[in-house]
Amino acid sequence: MDTFYNMQSDQVVVNRLSINPLKETDQRDTPSPCILVIFGASGDLTGRKLIPAIYNLMKDGQLPPHFACVGVARREKNREAFCTEMQEHIQKFSRTKATTADLEAFTEKLYYYKGDFQEDTLYPELDKFLQELDKKHGTKGNRLFYLSTPPSSFTPIIEKLKKYRLVYDISETRFSRVIIEKPFGHDNKSALLLQNELSKNLSENQIYRIDHYLGKETVQNLLVFRFSNSLFEGVWNNRYVDNLQISVAESIGIEGRGNFFEGQGLLRDIVQNHLMQLLSLVAMEPPTNLSAEAIRDEKVKVLQSLQRFNEEQIENFAVRGQYKEGFIDGEPVIAYRSEPHVKKDSQIETFAAIRLQIENWRWAGVPIYIRAGKRLPKRSTEIVVTFKRTPNILFHKHDKNNAPNQVIFRIQPNEGISMKFNSKVPGSTNLIQPVNMDFQYANYFGKAVPEAYERLIYDAILGDGTLFARVDESLSSWEFLTPILQSWASRPLEEEDFYPSGTWGPTSVDYLLRREHKNWKPL
Ligand code: BG6
Repeated sequence: MDTFYNMQSDQVVVNRLSINPLKETDQRDTPSPCILVIFGASGDLTGRKLIPAIYNLMKDGQLPPHFACVGVARREKNREAFCTEMQEHIQKFSRTKATTADLEAFTEKLYYYKGDFQEDTLYPELDKFLQELDKKHGTKGNRLFYLSTPPSSFTPIIEKLKKYRLVYDISETRFSRVIIEKPFGHDNKSALLLQNELSKNLSENQIYRIDHYLGKETVQNLLVFRFSNSLFEGVWNNRYVDNLQISVAESIGIEGRGNFFEGQGLLRDIVQNHLMQLLSLVAMEPPTNLSAEAIRDEKVKVLQSLQRFNEEQIENFAVRGQYKEGFIDGEPVIAYRSEPHVKKDSQIETFAAIRLQIENWRWAGVPIYIRAGKRLPKRSTEIVVTFKRTPNILFHKHDKNNAPNQVIFRIQPNEGISMKFNSKVPGSTNLIQPVNMDFQYANYFGKAVPEAYERLIYDAILGDGTLFARVDESLSSWEFLTPILQSWASRPLEEEDFYPSGTWGPTSVDYLLRREHKNWKPL
């Protein structure tokens, strides 16, 4: 690993002059002219997320005035058909209402290019096309490539982009950047291999590894909450915190993505990226400044400090499960093994929970519980910080209601933060009751929270990598999780690992906490 990092060291020092990620957008730099090229334009992500996000950026005046977007895909289609299709997607998925005038203005900048990204012949032709668009739109040769393709295509596409000079040397004044969708590898070795391949053709500061959780408002707010409020920092450590819990619960199943999920499983799909990002933000030390590197330096230290598990610890501290048939919102749903493109004896996990430990001064001794799952009773992502109880001298003795304090970050839905503390019940008795102090984004700011992809695409155009995973973050996360994946792959699921859809996972997940006299906070 060391050698690897040394090899990269000239490339990892990037974005020192990066923009303050927490400023209001109108205080940030004006984005430079550029063409955004989406590989995999006929895919689900493009229509559901990327195009509506770019549309809303345009509506909010956040795109550079000199801008064009090109969708590249294999299907035979002309520009008009592509634009009509994308307009329909915007109408369906945009967070703001789409008006005819805005849709027309948007499609003036939207193009389609038919081609197979496996074929060398595509690239010189595409290059000519983009140069033509430069002339028309004044985009000055700047390029942002979005690889919304299967991961196996990342390396070949980037090799060809480099070979045909669609990505430039970092020393040039015009820029070329590449956004890579997850998954970044499927274990520690493959991620390292992928990184080594990418770094032959790109510098680290040209690679934007997307994790859309980092674009969520509530996730960005974790830094503001922790480091701009003096109230909490003093108690954010093992002296006061009893335990941390992070839950990413979804009521949906695999949404027709059987092929994809069979090669992934929940640990790779959610835990390796989204959940580990939440963990590093809630547990990191204060960065020395708000540059991309300073923030990511601190985040990666958290992941590097995770206690590594041996086989016995994996069996004790990591729980997996797979959903059976059951009910969601009163409606019957099928078992994972009955989903299309899923093997009848599939061993893939749709639920994972781990009890982990960060071995550093701040967190030593504080149990951390994480869980994520599909087909749970509801959609809810929360981080819960539970504080130690006060000494058992005054109120505990008399009142069972006396509860520990909690700070709860509701990442979604009902985005907000609440604090739980004890209060005296009015009246002549000394009864105690836990109460909540609640902040909700929607009530307070009174405007819709932008979609994660809006912020991330905007930042990539600006060249700000703060909200993207740096290579060492991704590798550290894989290093921690790979032994768990290997252990699970070596043992078949057992009867008790299967949970009915619409329940909170296999029963052993409660035992992870109960044996330490704790409980999951209900979602
Ligand atoms: C994606 C996963 O990265 O995140 C999906 O591949 C998951 O399986 C999705 O459903 C959850 O995202 P969100 O923003 O709906 O919480």
